[in-house]
Amino acid sequence: MGRRCWRRRALAAACLGAALLLLGAAPRALRLAFENSLSSGWLSGKRRSPLQMLYDLDQGPRSALAALAAEHRQRRDLLRRACSRHTRRQRLLGPEDLRHVLVDDAHGLLYCYVPKVACTNWKRVLLALSGRGPADPRAIPAHEAHAPGRLPSLADFGPAEINRRLRAYLAFLFVREPFERLASAYRNKLARPHGAAFQRRFGTRIVRRLRPRPRPEALARGHDVRFAEFLAYLLDPRTRRDEPFNEHWERAHALCHPCRLRYDVVGRFETLADDAAFVLGLAGAPHLRFPAPPPGAPAAARARAERLFRDVSPFYQRRLFDLYRMDFLLFNYSAPAYVRLR
Ligand SMILES: *[C@@H]1O[C@H](CO)[C@@H](O)[C@H](O)[C@H]1NC(C)=O
Repeated sequence: MGRRCWRRRALAAACLGAALLLLGAAPRALRLAFENSLSSGWLSGKRRSPLQMLYDLDQGPRSALAALAAEHRQRRDLLRRACSRHTRRQRLLGPEDLRHVLVDDAHGLLYCYVPKVACTNWKRVLLALSGRGPADPRAIPAHEAHAPGRLPSLADFGPAEINRRLRAYLAFLFVREPFERLASAYRNKLARPHGAAFQRRFGTRIVRRLRPRPRPEALARGHDVRFAEFLAYLLDPRTRRDEPFNEHWERAHALCHPCRLRYDVVGRFETLADDAAFVLGLAGAPHLRFPAPPPGAPAAARARAERLFRDVSPFYQRRLFDLYRMDFLLFNYSAPAYVRLR
């Protein structure tokens, strides 16, 4: 083996080592890697746009960041393959279909928000990034992050302006294992005492429809809907005939249209910190810290979902899996181990 060849191999091994290290030690190491590879100010023309950054990482020499970019490319490829395998001809999208895609013109970002997948924190981060809020995202109250109009949506623009942004901006979304997301929506909006508005709006509807002899208090407040009743409501064909699902339980693909729009980064709730650091690095803001969930919270959420779904009959589990099947397929989630599909 020639000397040069050996050196190349040693270099490759070192790079691979660095990549593995980065995957384990992110997001801090990620921040540093991005800071080292960045200069300042995209708008001043010196810095590349997030989309160009991603493309450069994809084409560029082997590096730790390139390894991460490669993982994201694999997710995109999988999404594209799943789309061509599982979707038939689809209707054209109108601007209203893009209501969930938020726009950051200053950084060249499009973020499609999926409720129950850290979307409050993403809205906080985008507000902080845009300078429309405190520099520390954690200082922005949730109701402010969600206030309509705080962040512009693609739906607010005309077709030409929409297309220009779709072509030039880095588009990303974050997804989560569908049943865990559903369990989180139930807990947050229907089961907990402070979901009063949602309980009045949806809980009362569920009680009225599903209980043969509802108690007057339950009819008025909708405060005691059981998980099984919530699922029955979702599976009832009347529910979606009357109006689309509420965004908290609507399928991610129906909110973000990943087979119609090109998403450059598909972030996952399961790797939230790393994926958020990756997007923020591309956006030229590696110093911005994505608010971390309390330690243990993700594991607790997973355990809660499992507890809730364990009591659901295999028949209902299967029908729910069918209802959320596209989210499982497009985003590479397998059915959770507790689901009895056969
Ligand atoms: C899809 O999921 C499988 C099983 O969890 C995993 O091995 C594979 O790497 C994933 N593919 C992508 C592109 O993320």
